[in-house]
Amino acid sequence: MSLHEGRLRALAAARERLGATAPNPAVGAAVFSVEGEVLGIGAHLGAGRPHAEVEALRTCGEALGRAHAVFVTLEPCNHQGRTPPCTAALLQAGVRAVWIGALDPNPHVRGGGADALRQAGVQVRLMAESASPDERRLGHHCEDLIAPYTHWLRTGRPYVTIKRVFDAAGRMEPPPGRKTFSSHRLLEYAHRLRRESDVLLTGSGTVLADRPEFTVRYDLDTRTSPRRLSICDRRGRVDDAYLAGAMGRGLLPRIVADIEAELDLLGAEGAHQVLVEAGPTLTGRMLDRGLWNRLVTIRQISPEEEQVTVERRP
Ligand SMILES: NC(=O)c1ccc[n+]([C@@H]2O[C@H](COP(=O)([O-])OP(=O)(O)OC[C@H]3O[C@@H](n4cnc5c(N)ncnc54)[C@H](OP(=O)(O)O)[C@@H]3O)[C@@H](O)[C@H]2O)c1
Repeated sequence: MSLHEGRLRALAAARERLGATAPNPAVGAAVFSVEGEVLGIGAHLGAGRPHAEVEALRTCGEALGRAHAVFVTLEPCNHQGRTPPCTAALLQAGVRAVWIGALDPNPHVRGGGADALRQAGVQVRLMAESASPDERRLGHHCEDLIAPYTHWLRTGRPYVTIKRVFDAAGRMEPPPGRKTFSSHRLLEYAHRLRRESDVLLTGSGTVLADRPEFTVRYDLDTRTSPRRLSICDRRGRVDDAYLAGAMGRGLLPRIVADIEAELDLLGAEGAHQVLVEAGPTLTGRMLDRGLWNRLVTIRQISPEEEQVTVERRP
């Protein structure tokens, strides 16, 4: 396996944890020998658990003595938090080179981990500053991975992804008797979007029409705490039986009267990412009010063909 493939595996390990680590970001790391052999791969499993670098070092087992370089998708921390500083763990393991995918977006600590390692004589390389196009691209992927965390740090609100599906005639309402008109492939994609999210947000119209389960299928959900389900319902039309059913499926439902206040509250609760799965009324209102960061639009062209477009707000 090449160095680059090893780094991509670290990125993939971090992606597997999206939606499971808030209020921490998803992070992955890989440990290499001086010859470039991958000795260990690890990811941050969740708040209060070891950070990715420490997990990756742990998975080296007896090969730890050969640890020479570490790639980590996010700058190693240099402060004592719920866990000891990762810079200390890297130095203790005798690591001589650290490659960093993205600097810490928190302005109070940004660059601190990289500086501490440099001062201890470790060679530090930032992917964003690399001469190699592959490494710069990897740096972009690492920035992308933490976009919800970065947004939450800067604004105090979660990153909002709106997902909407249109049929060939441009309608969002599925035909009578059906809850969805997506193919199996797109359903899997939709469930991955759910898995990445700390919160699912919907409207009373969708609940009353479809009684959606809002579970995560097709994939092993890595979340360890209940996922929040926020339901916009100013008139109180959603019944207790639906709310009890949602709780029975491991969700934490909450009736919402004011979307903006809900986004503030979710941010204060430490949620990084919200997925909006609502009908045309609520979706339209959130788009009009600019309450979104990523818009995923799925258009059914024919029974066999769909087109997916993803727009991001700067
Ligand atoms: N194609 C898709 O992507 C997709 C996704 C989900 C659902 N759907 C379909 O959409 C249909 C339901 O659509 P819908 O438009 O009736 O339901 P909706 O958009 O899911 O919910 C609308 C309700 O949200 C509540 N709401 C609370 N705050 C609001 C605000 N600030 N602005 C607007 N609404 C607010 C309103 O109820 P109150 O007035 O009581 O507050 C409103 O009646 C169903 O057929 C469902 O299958 C399609």
